[in-house]
Amino acid sequence: MKFLIINGPNLNMLGLREPGIYGDRNYATLCALCEEWCAAEGIECELFQSNHEGVIVDKIQEAYDKVDGIVINPAAYTHTSVAILDALKAVAIPTVEVHISKVSEREAFRQVSFVSYYAARTIQGMGFEGYGEAIRWLKGYITDSGN
Ligand code: DQA
Repeated sequence: MKFLIINGPNLNMLGLREPGIYGDRNYATLCALCEEWCAAEGIECELFQSNHEGVIVDKIQEAYDKVDGIVINPAAYTHTSVAILDALKAVAIPTVEVHISKVSEREAFRQVSFVSYYAARTIQGMGFEGYGEAIRWLKGYITDSGN
């Protein structure tokens, strides 16, 4: 089983970026943890980060027929990108949406998620651990439902 873990804009700035909201650990630490969590489940993992919407769309399209599951934190594009939603719908790969912070308790503009229209589950407010929860849940979802 192979998962693609996608992180959107400004998540490469973790550690420096608003540590009161996102914590003081950096993107390299997040990647190392995701690799560990995938390895523990026997899942091959590809990590990808981009600050560009179209590059994320291209990456999702390239995943067609190559990956079994997608874990995505679309970051700010969560709240704006119909293009990322449509790419996920096009490839029809089981997907979990993750947010480090508890977006439901933040600004009004963060209350809309286009990706949620497709994602099988949304995990928020668990910090980096939310990616671990997403990896384990998605494996079960794919295995149990034959997705
Ligand atoms: C985020 C929440 C988004 O609203 C924000 O734009 C991000 C990160 C999160 O992980 O909590 O960049 O997706």
